[in-house]
Amino acid sequence: MVRITEGKAAIEIPKQPVTRKAEAFYNPEMEYQRDITMSALRVFGNGKDMYVCDPLAGTGIRSLRMAAEVPGVKSILANDMSESAFAVLKKNIINARIKDTEIYVSNRHARDIFQENMNAFDFIDIDPFGSPIGFLTVSASSLKNRALFAATATDTGALCGAFPKTCLNRYSIKSFKTDFFKEVGIRTLITAVMTEMAEEGVSFEPMYSHANHYFRVIGITRRSAKKTAEQRKLVKDIYYCSMCLFRSAGSAGKCPECGSNLNAIGPLWTGKIIDRAFCRKMLNDLESNGYKKTKELSMALEDGDSPFFYDLHKLYNLTKKTPQKIRDVIGCLEENGFKATRTYLSGTGIRTEAPYGKIINCL
Ligand SMILES: C[S@@+](CC[C@H](N)C(=O)[O-])C[C@H]1O[C@@H](n2cnc3c(N)ncnc32)[C@H](O)[C@@H]1O
Ligand SMILES: [Zn+2]
Repeated sequence: MVRITEGKAAIEIPKQPVTRKAEAFYNPEMEYQRDITMSALRVFGNGKDMYVCDPLAGTGIRSLRMAAEVPGVKSILANDMSESAFAVLKKNIINARIKDTEIYVSNRHARDIFQENMNAFDFIDIDPFGSPIGFLTVSASSLKNRALFAATATDTGALCGAFPKTCLNRYSIKSFKTDFFKEVGIRTLITAVMTEMAEEGVSFEPMYSHANHYFRVIGITRRSAKKTAEQRKLVKDIYYCSMCLFRSAGSAGKCPECGSNLNAIGPLWTGKIIDRAFCRKMLNDLESNGYKKTKELSMALEDGDSPFFYDLHKLYNLTKKTPQKIRDVIGCLEENGFKATRTYLSGTGIRTEAPYGKIINCL
């Protein structure tokens, strides 16, 4: 066995490679994702009593961290369907001797956990292998009236448009490779969470979304038919020209810039993918805990809201103009009266509401 410490928790896991076939899956590269989750839960809970469900718990690292790092977590249901993972999970929970939080362990299909715990949890964290799609609708009824909900997806190729058929089959969303593929991935995942939860009359408002070798969304859910219906209005088709990179939420037909055919992507969530007030609280929370990896969150706070960002490399390749510094292009757009920012989703991206022609002029 190997001893691992992460955050304020410690676990023991079998010596094993990081693959799905591991006896109990632990991925050190997901530490940042768990760090962000702890902060989001602290901000959401603000010290109040919370009942939490970790339905795909693996080794138990996430549950143990929540118990040790989030004030107010009264009870955690840590579950894993795999017998070998459950054995490791149970041992880790027992060995940790947690005092202030009750941790229950179980070895069931996550679906059964949700069906038996209606309206029970302040937070559910869906952290599966691959896609979370099969867990979304079933988990909605387990959430309290207002709750925090997080989902990870590692089927990045399907989400970001590299595998359009898989995306259509799995998420019912038309997609293909674009210059803003990370944003397509995030918005596809958010749309999937919203659509699946809407079946249970539950809305999902994104608080923080990020893209690395996985996509991850964290948001606040509410049992509200009105809010759910309002959100649906912002789920739309986007029209994109693969020839000149023009895009708009307008209508199908020919590209107004180059006359090529526009292709539809969607329907996709076009509203905010982060909540600035919530993220500012997360940043304060992380900084006050002495946490150093806050660059992505700080950049997200500076990013704009309008979908979708442009990739400057792609635009320069296309126009054959001499590449300028990102800050100069942003400066030019601002001088022309348009809001323009970098984006936390890509080092070469800019986000602006300026019309296509103005962007090309500023290159
Ligand atoms: C990516 S791992 C979880 C990692 C863990 N959340 C962490 O932060 O380290 C996914 C886990 O879900 C479990 N699992 C897969 N399908 C399941 C299901 N339908 N119900 C319960 N557990 C399931 C697997 O056995 C595996 O341990
Ligand atoms: Zn075009």
